[in-house]
Amino acid sequence: MPKLFDLTGKTALITGSSRGIGKAIAMAMVDAGARVVISSRKLDACEAVAAEINDAGGEAMALPCNVSDRDSLRTLVGEVIDAWGRIDILVCNAAINPYFGTLQDIDEGAFDKIMETNVKNQLWLCNMVIPAMAERREGSVIIVSSVGAMKGTKNLGAYSISKGADITIARNLAVEWGESQVTVNCIAPALIRTDMARALWEDPERYKKACEIYPLGRIGEPEEVAGAAVFLAAPSGRFVTGQTIIVDGGADASRGTYS
Ligand SMILES: NC(=O)c1ccc[n+]([C@@H]2O[C@H](COP(=O)([O-])OP(=O)(O)OC[C@H]3O[C@@H](n4cnc5c(N)ncnc54)[C@H](OP(=O)(O)O)[C@@H]3O)[C@@H](O)[C@H]2O)c1
Repeated sequence: MPKLFDLTGKTALITGSSRGIGKAIAMAMVDAGARVVISSRKLDACEAVAAEINDAGGEAMALPCNVSDRDSLRTLVGEVIDAWGRIDILVCNAAINPYFGTLQDIDEGAFDKIMETNVKNQLWLCNMVIPAMAERREGSVIIVSSVGAMKGTKNLGAYSISKGADITIARNLAVEWGESQVTVNCIAPALIRTDMARALWEDPERYKKACEIYPLGRIGEPEEVAGAAVFLAAPSGRFVTGQTIIVDGGADASRGTYS
Protein backbone atom coordinates (compact mmCIF):
# COMPACT_ATOMS: atom_id res chain seq x y z
CA MET A 1 0.00 0.00 0.00
CA PRO A 2 1.49 3.39 -0.99
CA LYS A 3 1.57 6.19 1.57
CA LEU A 4 -1.96 7.22 2.44
CA PHE A 5 -1.76 10.90 1.54
CA ASP A 6 0.87 10.72 -1.19
CA LEU A 7 0.16 12.19 -4.65
CA THR A 8 3.66 11.78 -6.05
CA GLY A 9 3.60 11.34 -9.83
CA LYS A 10 -0.04 12.40 -10.15
CA THR A 11 -1.33 15.14 -12.45
CA ALA A 12 -4.18 17.26 -11.09
CA LEU A 13 -6.38 19.63 -13.08
CA ILE A 14 -8.20 22.09 -10.84
CA THR A 15 -10.63 24.58 -12.34
CA GLY A 16 -10.90 27.98 -10.68
CA SER A 17 -7.52 27.58 -9.01
CA SER A 18 -6.10 31.11 -9.27
CA ARG A 19 -7.48 31.96 -5.82
CA GLY A 20 -9.81 30.83 -3.03
CA ILE A 21 -10.66 27.18 -2.45
CA GLY A 22 -9.26 26.06 -5.82
CA LYS A 23 -5.87 27.61 -5.14
CA ALA A 24 -5.78 26.09 -1.64
CA ILE A 25 -6.54 22.65 -3.11
CA ALA A 26 -3.81 23.11 -5.75
CA MET A 27 -1.25 24.12 -3.10
CA ALA A 28 -2.17 21.15 -0.88
CA MET A 29 -1.91 18.75 -3.81
CA VAL A 30 1.51 20.13 -4.75
CA ASP A 31 2.53 19.67 -1.13
CA ALA A 32 1.43 16.03 -1.39
CA GLY A 33 3.61 15.55 -4.50
CA ALA A 34 1.29 16.21 -7.46
CA ARG A 35 1.94 18.44 -10.44
CA VAL A 36 -0.99 20.77 -11.00
CA VAL A 37 -2.75 22.69 -13.75
CA ILE A 38 -3.79 26.12 -12.52
CA SER A 39 -6.77 27.36 -14.48
CA SER A 40 -9.27 30.23 -14.43
CA ARG A 41 -10.54 32.85 -16.83
CA LYS A 42 -7.56 35.18 -16.27
CA LEU A 43 -4.28 33.78 -17.56
CA ASP A 44 -2.13 36.33 -15.68
CA ALA A 45 -3.67 35.32 -12.35
CA CYS A 46 -3.02 31.64 -13.16
CA GLU A 47 0.55 32.38 -14.22
CA ALA A 48 1.21 34.12 -10.91
CA VAL A 49 0.04 31.06 -8.92
CA ALA A 50 1.95 28.67 -11.20
CA ALA A 51 5.10 30.77 -10.76
CA GLU A 52 4.64 30.72 -6.98
CA ILE A 53 4.52 26.90 -7.10
CA ASN A 54 7.38 26.47 -9.57
CA ASP A 55 9.61 28.94 -7.69
CA ALA A 56 9.06 26.90 -4.52
CA GLY A 57 10.21 23.70 -6.26
CA GLY A 58 6.82 22.29 -7.26
CA GLU A 59 5.50 21.76 -10.77
CA ALA A 60 2.60 23.75 -12.17
CA MET A 61 1.28 24.88 -15.52
CA ALA A 62 -1.10 27.82 -16.13
CA LEU A 63 -3.92 27.43 -18.65
CA PRO A 64 -6.89 29.77 -19.08
CA CYS A 65 -10.42 28.40 -19.29
CA ASN A 66 -13.91 29.75 -18.81
CA VAL A 67 -15.99 26.88 -17.45
CA SER A 68 -19.12 28.50 -18.87
CA ASP A 69 -17.78 27.77 -22.36
CA ARG A 70 -17.78 24.12 -23.47
CA ASP A 71 -15.17 24.70 -26.22
CA SER A 72 -12.87 26.30 -23.68
CA LEU A 73 -13.18 23.18 -21.49
CA ARG A 74 -12.39 20.93 -24.45
CA THR A 75 -9.32 23.04 -25.29
CA LEU A 76 -8.19 22.92 -21.66
CA VAL A 77 -8.36 19.14 -21.45
CA GLY A 78 -6.61 18.78 -24.83
CA GLU A 79 -3.79 21.11 -23.78
CA VAL A 80 -3.19 19.21 -20.53
CA ILE A 81 -3.07 15.90 -22.39
CA ASP A 82 -0.74 17.35 -25.05
CA ALA A 83 1.63 18.73 -22.41
CA TRP A 84 1.52 16.12 -19.66
CA GLY A 85 -0.19 13.11 -21.25
CA ARG A 86 -2.74 12.38 -18.52
CA ILE A 87 -5.08 13.68 -15.86
CA ASP A 88 -5.17 11.57 -12.70
CA ILE A 89 -7.16 13.97 -10.55
CA LEU A 90 -9.90 16.30 -11.75
CA VAL A 91 -11.23 18.94 -9.38
CA CYS A 92 -14.35 20.64 -10.74
CA ASN A 93 -14.14 23.66 -8.50
CA ALA A 94 -15.08 26.76 -10.53
CA ALA A 95 -18.75 27.68 -10.44
CA ILE A 96 -20.81 30.79 -10.97
CA ASN A 97 -23.44 32.52 -8.88
CA PRO A 98 -24.65 35.53 -10.88
CA TYR A 99 -28.07 35.85 -9.24
CA PHE A 100 -29.02 36.76 -5.67
CA GLY A 101 -32.78 36.58 -5.21
CA THR A 102 -35.79 34.33 -4.98
CA LEU A 103 -36.66 31.45 -7.29
CA GLN A 104 -39.98 33.21 -7.85
CA ASP A 105 -38.24 36.21 -9.42
CA ILE A 106 -35.37 34.64 -11.35
CA ASP A 107 -35.54 35.09 -15.11
CA GLU A 108 -35.02 32.12 -17.35
CA GLY A 109 -31.77 33.45 -18.80
CA ALA A 110 -30.09 33.63 -15.37
CA PHE A 111 -31.44 30.22 -14.37
CA ASP A 112 -30.20 28.64 -17.61
CA LYS A 113 -26.77 30.25 -17.24
CA ILE A 114 -26.33 28.79 -13.74
CA MET A 115 -27.49 25.33 -14.83
CA GLU A 116 -25.42 25.42 -18.02
CA THR A 117 -22.20 26.24 -16.16
CA ASN A 118 -22.59 24.58 -12.76
CA VAL A 119 -24.45 21.45 -13.86
CA LYS A 120 -24.11 20.67 -17.56
CA ASN A 121 -20.54 21.82 -18.05
CA GLN A 122 -19.36 20.08 -14.85
CA LEU A 123 -20.79 16.88 -16.27
CA TRP A 124 -19.30 17.42 -19.74
CA LEU A 125 -15.90 18.12 -18.19
CA CYS A 126 -16.16 14.86 -16.24
CA ASN A 127 -17.16 13.05 -19.43
CA MET A 128 -14.13 14.48 -21.25
CA VAL A 129 -11.69 13.31 -18.58
CA ILE A 130 -13.02 10.10 -16.99
CA PRO A 131 -12.77 7.65 -19.95
CA ALA A 132 -8.95 7.90 -20.03
CA MET A 133 -8.86 7.42 -16.24
CA ALA A 134 -11.05 4.36 -16.68
CA GLU A 135 -8.65 2.90 -19.24
CA ARG A 136 -5.84 3.22 -16.69
CA ARG A 137 -8.19 1.84 -14.01
CA GLU A 138 -7.33 4.71 -11.69
CA GLY A 139 -8.56 8.25 -11.19
CA SER A 140 -10.26 10.62 -8.82
CA VAL A 141 -12.87 13.25 -9.63
CA ILE A 142 -13.85 15.78 -6.99
CA ILE A 143 -16.68 18.25 -7.48
CA VAL A 144 -16.88 21.24 -5.16
CA SER A 145 -20.54 21.49 -4.18
CA SER A 146 -21.85 23.50 -1.21
CA VAL A 147 -23.89 23.07 1.96
CA GLY A 148 -26.40 25.15 0.00
CA ALA A 149 -27.29 21.84 -1.63
CA MET A 150 -28.68 20.58 1.67
CA LYS A 151 -30.89 23.36 2.91
CA GLY A 152 -33.28 25.96 1.59
CA THR A 153 -32.37 29.63 1.43
CA LYS A 154 -34.32 32.73 0.47
CA ASN A 155 -31.89 34.17 -2.04
CA LEU A 156 -29.51 31.46 -3.20
CA GLY A 157 -32.03 28.93 -4.51
CA ALA A 158 -30.84 28.66 -8.11
CA TYR A 159 -27.19 28.31 -7.09
CA SER A 160 -28.23 25.74 -4.45
CA ILE A 161 -30.18 23.69 -7.00
CA SER A 162 -27.03 23.52 -9.13
CA LYS A 163 -24.96 22.48 -6.11
CA GLY A 164 -27.49 19.77 -5.30
CA ALA A 165 -27.11 18.50 -8.85
CA ASP A 166 -23.33 18.21 -8.27
CA ILE A 167 -24.01 15.68 -5.53
CA THR A 168 -26.30 13.68 -7.80
CA ILE A 169 -23.77 13.82 -10.65
CA ALA A 170 -21.09 12.46 -8.32
CA ARG A 171 -23.34 9.62 -7.11
CA ASN A 172 -24.29 8.59 -10.64
CA LEU A 173 -20.80 8.83 -12.11
CA ALA A 174 -19.47 6.89 -9.14
CA VAL A 175 -21.85 4.07 -10.01
CA GLU A 176 -21.23 4.28 -13.77
CA TRP A 177 -17.44 4.19 -13.43
CA GLY A 178 -16.97 2.16 -10.26
CA GLU A 179 -15.94 -1.01 -12.05
CA SER A 180 -13.15 0.97 -13.72
CA GLN A 181 -11.80 2.05 -10.31
CA VAL A 182 -12.52 5.74 -10.92
CA THR A 183 -13.89 7.48 -7.82
CA VAL A 184 -16.21 10.50 -7.99
CA ASN A 185 -17.05 12.51 -4.89
CA CYS A 186 -18.15 15.95 -3.75
CA ILE A 187 -16.94 18.32 -1.09
CA ALA A 188 -19.62 20.58 0.37
CA PRO A 189 -18.11 23.55 2.19
CA ALA A 190 -20.05 26.00 4.34
CA LEU A 191 -19.05 29.66 4.48
CA ILE A 192 -15.38 29.98 3.55
CA ARG A 193 -13.37 33.21 3.56
CA THR A 194 -12.99 33.78 -0.20
CA ASP A 195 -13.86 36.50 -2.70
CA MET A 196 -16.98 34.65 -3.83
CA ALA A 197 -18.49 34.79 -0.34
CA ARG A 198 -17.07 38.22 0.59
CA ALA A 199 -20.52 39.81 0.98
CA LEU A 200 -21.33 37.22 3.66
CA TRP A 201 -18.27 37.78 5.88
CA GLU A 202 -16.78 41.23 5.23
CA ASP A 203 -19.35 43.22 7.19
CA PRO A 204 -18.56 42.71 10.96
CA GLU A 205 -22.24 42.50 11.98
CA ARG A 206 -23.00 39.93 9.32
CA TYR A 207 -19.82 38.03 10.15
CA LYS A 208 -20.80 37.84 13.86
CA LYS A 209 -24.22 36.49 12.93
CA ALA A 210 -22.70 33.97 10.51
CA CYS A 211 -20.32 32.68 13.19
CA GLU A 212 -23.22 31.84 15.50
CA ILE A 213 -24.22 29.05 13.10
CA TYR A 214 -20.91 27.25 13.55
CA PRO A 215 -20.05 25.29 16.71
CA LEU A 216 -16.42 26.17 15.98
CA GLY A 217 -17.47 29.81 16.34
CA ARG A 218 -15.92 31.00 13.10
CA ILE A 219 -16.15 30.60 9.34
CA GLY A 220 -13.75 28.39 7.39
CA GLU A 221 -10.50 29.23 5.61
CA PRO A 222 -9.78 27.92 2.07
CA GLU A 223 -6.93 25.73 3.36
CA GLU A 224 -9.40 23.96 5.65
CA VAL A 225 -11.26 22.60 2.61
CA ALA A 226 -8.10 21.42 0.86
CA GLY A 227 -7.37 18.45 3.16
CA ALA A 228 -10.61 16.76 2.16
CA ALA A 229 -9.57 17.00 -1.51
CA VAL A 230 -6.16 15.45 -0.83
CA PHE A 231 -7.82 12.68 1.20
CA LEU A 232 -10.20 11.86 -1.68
CA ALA A 233 -7.51 11.99 -4.39
CA ALA A 234 -4.83 10.01 -2.56
CA PRO A 235 -4.71 6.27 -1.70
CA SER A 236 -6.49 7.26 1.54
CA GLY A 237 -9.70 7.82 -0.46
CA ARG A 238 -9.48 4.89 -2.84
CA PHE A 239 -12.52 3.05 -1.38
CA VAL A 240 -14.62 6.22 -1.02
CA THR A 241 -16.89 7.02 -3.94
CA GLY A 242 -20.27 8.63 -4.59
CA GLN A 243 -19.99 10.54 -1.30
CA THR A 244 -20.13 14.14 -0.20
CA ILE A 245 -17.79 15.33 2.53
CA ILE A 246 -19.32 18.22 4.44
CA VAL A 247 -16.77 20.79 5.64
CA ASP A 248 -18.91 23.09 7.75
CA GLY A 249 -17.42 23.79 11.17
CA GLY A 250 -20.08 21.57 12.72
CA ALA A 251 -23.09 23.58 11.53
CA ASP A 252 -24.96 20.53 10.30
CA ALA A 253 -24.39 18.71 13.57
CA SER A 254 -25.84 21.55 15.65
CA ARG A 255 -28.77 22.67 13.53
CA GLY A 256 -32.08 22.44 15.35
CA THR A 257 -30.67 21.95 18.86
CA TYR A 258 -32.18 23.97 21.75
CA SER A 259 -29.20 24.79 23.90
N1 LIG B 1 -16.57 30.50 -0.43
C1 LIG B 1 -17.60 29.84 0.05
O1 LIG B 1 -18.16 30.21 1.11
C2 LIG B 1 -18.10 28.61 -0.64
C3 LIG B 1 -18.99 27.79 0.05
C4 LIG B 1 -19.47 26.64 -0.59
C5 LIG B 1 -19.05 26.32 -1.86
N2 LIG B 1 -18.17 27.14 -2.51
C6 LIG B 1 -17.77 26.74 -3.85
O2 LIG B 1 -16.37 26.70 -3.91
C7 LIG B 1 -15.94 26.88 -5.26
C8 LIG B 1 -14.83 27.91 -5.29
O3 LIG B 1 -15.33 29.13 -4.80
P1 LIG B 1 -14.42 30.18 -4.01
O4 LIG B 1 -15.22 30.62 -2.84
O5 LIG B 1 -13.05 29.66 -3.82
O6 LIG B 1 -14.42 31.39 -5.04
P2 LIG B 1 -13.33 32.52 -5.37
O7 LIG B 1 -12.40 32.74 -4.23
O8 LIG B 1 -14.10 33.67 -5.88
O9 LIG B 1 -12.47 31.86 -6.55
C9 LIG B 1 -13.11 31.48 -7.72
C10 LIG B 1 -12.08 30.91 -8.68
O10 LIG B 1 -12.77 30.47 -9.84
C11 LIG B 1 -12.36 31.25 -10.98
N3 LIG B 1 -13.55 31.44 -11.80
C12 LIG B 1 -14.62 32.21 -11.57
N4 LIG B 1 -15.51 32.10 -12.60
C13 LIG B 1 -14.94 31.25 -13.48
C14 LIG B 1 -15.35 30.74 -14.75
N5 LIG B 1 -16.49 31.11 -15.31
N6 LIG B 1 -14.51 29.89 -15.39
C15 LIG B 1 -13.34 29.52 -14.83
N7 LIG B 1 -12.91 29.96 -13.65
C16 LIG B 1 -13.71 30.82 -12.98
C17 LIG B 1 -11.74 32.51 -10.40
O11 LIG B 1 -10.75 33.09 -11.23
P3 LIG B 1 -11.07 34.08 -12.48
O12 LIG B 1 -11.84 35.22 -11.92
O13 LIG B 1 -9.72 34.43 -13.00
O14 LIG B 1 -11.85 33.27 -13.48
C18 LIG B 1 -11.09 31.94 -9.15
O15 LIG B 1 -9.87 31.27 -9.48
C19 LIG B 1 -17.20 27.25 -6.05
O16 LIG B 1 -17.70 26.11 -6.68
C20 LIG B 1 -18.17 27.69 -4.96
O17 LIG B 1 -19.50 27.51 -5.36
C21 LIG B 1 -17.69 28.27 -1.93
